[in-house]
Amino acid sequence: GARENPPVRRVSDWDAAQLAELAIEYGTPLYVQDLDRARENCERLRDAFPDADVRYAVKAHTGRRVLETVREAGLDAECASAGEVDRALAAGFGGDRLHYTAVNPPARDLDYVVGVAEAEPDLTVTVGAVDTLDRLAERGYEGRVCVRVNPGVGAGHHEKVRTGGAAKFGIPSDRAAEAAREAAERFDVVGVHAHAGSGIDPEQLDSHRELVTRMGELARELTDPDGDAAPLDLEYVDVGGGFGVPYQEDEPPLGLPAVAEATREAVAPLPAGVDLAIEPGRYVVADAGVLLTRVNTVKPTPDERVVGVDAGMTDLLRPAMYDAYHPIRNLGRGRSADGGDAPTPDEREATPVTVAGPICETGDTLCKDRALADPTRGDLLAVGVAGAYGYEMASQYNSRPRPAEVALDDGTATIARRREGLPDLTAVERNADTPAGGDR
Ligand code: LLP
Repeated sequence: GARENPPVRRVSDWDAAQLAELAIEYGTPLYVQDLDRARENCERLRDAFPDADVRYAVKAHTGRRVLETVREAGLDAECASAGEVDRALAAGFGGDRLHYTAVNPPARDLDYVVGVAEAEPDLTVTVGAVDTLDRLAERGYEGRVCVRVNPGVGAGHHEKVRTGGAAKFGIPSDRAAEAAREAAERFDVVGVHAHAGSGIDPEQLDSHRELVTRMGELARELTDPDGDAAPLDLEYVDVGGGFGVPYQEDEPPLGLPAVAEATREAVAPLPAGVDLAIEPGRYVVADAGVLLTRVNTVKPTPDERVVGVDAGMTDLLRPAMYDAYHPIRNLGRGRSADGGDAPTPDEREATPVTVAGPICETGDTLCKDRALADPTRGDLLAVGVAGAYGYEMASQYNSRPRPAEVALDDGTATIARRREGLPDLTAVERNADTPAGGDR
């Protein structure tokens, strides 16, 4: 029967009682990642793009359980580093489902990936500089290559994540066809690629369309060249990821079917045998995750009411780094040890607050001047849409151990990443002269 599969999961859609229990059982700060929701998001992508190759951008959430879920849902893996390739292999992705995108790749990463390709020759390396092609050739690589183009047009939720148009990414589009033909003399060139940026919203669809149009043109030019150039036998045109998700409570969803329609129209006509490929990360995992954090300090000041919590920029960097908005819901005290007789959040007055973490930087906030059901000490806050680029960007700055993460599968919670402890902070200093786990 038709399963309910809404385009957005809001922070208010989570089961507050279950979250409160998880926070008590596993402590805070705690990431909760719902694999069922990630699975639904994979299905919605495949429904909207039925003929496309869908590749999950692993960087958004690299957890083993998420990778296995995505693999079982039929998506490939797009990896940005040797570490991500290593994780994808461990999660069961075979070479034919592995795409490594090399951006100024460190020698260690190239060595590792070329080594993997010996055992998994169906792996593809996406390359955005002629220099990188030379470095692959120096390592004896002759395998599958996808040529990354700088499409000259970018999009995304913040300047820092607009890749299209940034010179760092891709071969300039006026050089791309020639570079692809030259690459084909040394490698098996199977695709062309471009990525506009991350967090494309409905208003930026024109930029997306422009990028896709250019990539369609490039594919036609390469497979059916003017003059006497040899045609390339391309398998796909990868138009990148970047599909945005709503973070504001009342923000409309991107409208995936409309994006898919626009993409298909703009790329057409695709040469025979050439597939469309996409590589979304955020879309798969963002609304599948929440970060739970406990209020430990409430400080009224003449200017603002500061709510101190146990999660900060080391747990969720996005607000500090991009001024990103994450919805926050006060779940109250649950059965917290601090629990008292405070009224339930629903009965409290919405009060403008700044939610700040334990890090010694002014930028360490999760929100500013936001109306929340007046938080009191011991309350549990759920920070929504935290499943993408949340745990992944966590750090140990201020010697804060990274948080724990639980995975929900069919509603059942199990620990997916244990909470770090103080010994984890010094692990790399102990026996520092003994390389752990190889030199890669
Ligand atoms: N493909 C390539 C080549 C990429 O560089 C990226 C993201 C993606 C796909 C996936 O983009 P997505 O579908 O997830 O938007 N830390 C930032 C996001 C950085 C994204 C970098 N590249 C944030 O928290 O907003």
